[in-house]
Amino acid sequence: MASSFLSFSLLFISLYTADGFRSYSLASCDFNSTDPKDIELIHSEYFNKLEIYRFSSSLGKFVGYTEYGVKQAEYFNNDPSILAQISAEKERYCVTTVGLDYQAALTKSAEPYVVLHSVTPSGGKHSAMLVCSVFDFYPKNIKVSWLRDGKEVTSDVTSTDELADADWYYQIHSHLEYTPRSGEKISCVVEHASLREPLVTDWDPSMPESERNKIAIGASGLILGLVLSLAGFIYYKRKARGRILVPSN
Ligand SMILES: *[C@@H]1O[C@H](CO)[C@@H](O)[C@H](O)[C@H]1NC(C)=O
Repeated sequence: MASSFLSFSLLFISLYTADGFRSYSLASCDFNSTDPKDIELIHSEYFNKLEIYRFSSSLGKFVGYTEYGVKQAEYFNNDPSILAQISAEKERYCVTTVGLDYQAALTKSAEPYVVLHSVTPSGGKHSAMLVCSVFDFYPKNIKVSWLRDGKEVTSDVTSTDELADADWYYQIHSHLEYTPRSGEKISCVVEHASLREPLVTDWDPSMPESERNKIAIGASGLILGLVLSLAGFIYYKRKARGRILVPSN
């Protein structure tokens, strides 16, 4: 028993220690505009997790990070044809790709939609809480604020970060804790590059539409049921009367 456990463990240990190596290159383009001078090509060579050497288009040369890497970098830096070849990669790969990124996405914007709803506050000094949820906007920069009777509210407001949906869109949720007053008007204001003017959503303390719909559907079902059972009852009464009439005839 003990020996089979030992060999079982050894099997795992030997499987676990069975190792390999990974050697790879990583080319990246760092940029903040389509202007070639704002674009940097970085081409790195790695062994396992260690960067051995890289070429940077901003430096215009190779840099080594290990003993072997330093030698390689020196060797490449002394070969003008290699330097010319890799420098041309910036134009061929980065400038082209960055141009396409700007064309396809980075100059575009997507308008958000806003959902305003109330939640129960978790403790705190106020009895009510509103959440202004802003969905599907791009780019990331956005301002979400609150108005109470036309004046901006700054206290008791908390917000999430801009959360990436991982499909280029973002969402953000802003919370306002407050003590309701009668006749007041509360609004959530969204300012974003996709909007010509701030998007103002007023809080409607009456029942939300989805709730109204549920009640309307329920009520329709109830009425339909009542009508059908009444029809059935009348039908039954008529039949019953007919049957009673026969023997007395
Ligand atoms: C891009 O960044 C560089 C510095 O890294 C700066 O000099 C340049 O002005 C920036 N360009 C834009 C368009 O922001």
